Amino acid sequence: MNKKKLAVLVSGSGSNLGALIQAVNGGVIKNAGISLVISSRQDAYALIRAEKAGIPALCIRQDEHILEKLGKFEIDAVLLAGYMKIVTAPILEAYKDRILNIHPSLLPEFGGKGMYGMRVHEEVIKAGAPVSGCTVHIVTENVDAGPILGQATVPVLPGDTPDSLAVRVLKEEHILYPRIVGEFVDSFLLNNDQTLSSWKSRL
Ligand code: GAR
Repeated sequence: MNKKKLAVLVSGSGSNLGALIQAVNGGVIKNAGISLVISSRQDAYALIRAEKAGIPALCIRQDEHILEKLGKFEIDAVLLAGYMKIVTAPILEAYKDRILNIHPSLLPEFGGKGMYGMRVHEEVIKAGAPVSGCTVHIVTENVDAGPILGQATVPVLPGDTPDSLAVRVLKEEHILYPRIVGEFVDSFLLNNDQTLSSWKSRL
């Protein structure tokens, strides 16, 4: 069976990209490879991680141009991994139900426009939430509000700073995202006639 082709969209350090690369190499993601990495920022360390792994890596800012590259590389699904831009209509339409995101909170809490990266952890601590975590979801036109595919929780400890909480959440992201992507590829991408809802009900 032909392996499915994934593109990963990044903006920063790319530790989730690193976890996804390891998951492909280690067999957690068995039936897909990462064919392309696109960054919204030229200075993202994620680009260096991709190059080190031998994956084509480009900085592209416009969604029309991104879509063109996704087509050229025959990409089957798109993974957002610390991607700090909002994906717009051309890509959303072309890849309906085939764009996943990881968000550093337990959605629907602490999500939506303006809630990304360290900002999320700051707000969780300010709100005095006892628990936080991360969420993998399908990307739709409503920011951070698409169908949830999986979550992992961590405690918020007394004395936590946004940085210490971020480290704890990131550890879980690196386990959750590859696991959900592996299941998504096997159960949804490999069965073209399967609807998203029937795949989700098997989780
Ligand atoms: C991760 O915590 C990810 O969940 C978050 O940014 C960080 C990126 O880390 N993404 C968002 O906030 C998107 N709304 P990484 O570049 O090391 O993977």
